[in-house]
Amino acid sequence: MCRPEHFTVSYRINPWMHPQDPTNTAKAIEQWTTLYDTFVGLGHDVHLIDPLEGLPDMVYTANGGFIIGGIAYGARFAYPQRSPEGPAFMHWFADNGFEVVEPERVNEGEGDILLVGPRILAGTGFRSTVESHAELAGIYGREVVSLTLVDPRFYHLDTAISVLDPLEDDENANIAYVPAAFDDASRRTLETLYPDAIIVSEEDAGILGLNSISDGYNIVIAKRAVGFEKQLRERGYNPIGVDLSELLLGGGGVKCCTLELRR
Ligand code: ARG
Repeated sequence: MCRPEHFTVSYRINPWMHPQDPTNTAKAIEQWTTLYDTFVGLGHDVHLIDPLEGLPDMVYTANGGFIIGGIAYGARFAYPQRSPEGPAFMHWFADNGFEVVEPERVNEGEGDILLVGPRILAGTGFRSTVESHAELAGIYGREVVSLTLVDPRFYHLDTAISVLDPLEDDENANIAYVPAAFDDASRRTLETLYPDAIIVSEEDAGILGLNSISDGYNIVIAKRAVGFEKQLRERGYNPIGVDLSELLLGGGGVKCCTLELRR
């Protein structure tokens, strides 16, 4: 995670961002701290990367890379405003014992790359390129399923899909998603691969309710996503709501603020 010390909205690279509207950095830090404390309380081992001045989006660490088995595939950002974050995260990975693979192709890390059981779901359409999906498959030697996002509100895959079961060896790992985020072919792919998926309303997804972190039982979600919360409870999960309204002004939620370090 990265403390939002320099958080603000000074440019617009997604429809959530309105640079003309004020942001409150102190409030962002306060809400982020609640998320941090929630993770620590659940027993997660949370590491921090130093925030860099001039990189207000660095709090969204999910975009900093993608890691399985200690191998970190670096990020290459679509917009110049965020591109210095790529090397900053790669340095952190190297300093913390991860093997770093420098990306050739544009990809925004776990924002668009989700590990669901042994399979990788990879998003394209707004940020990460489909060529990065091939690069990923080559690095990890795993099945990579490309999904095309079509709704600008859901510009990263982690705004449209929630991974409910995080274990790599779980062949039955399930997801929740909002169908409206995807083109027809991707919707059909998801229906085939995940017939038991939780289908989330546009209302809940529209406040980035799907942008969540699960340990397989406890799922940290947006507090306002009350429909999704109920759906999760019905399936035997334990949803925990956190309010990140200030960070939503940059277009990010719980998952965006979190990068999973899979050793
Ligand atoms: N303002 C950031 C951007 O547009 C938000 C990133 C949200 N991160 C995510 N994983 N969805 O890049």
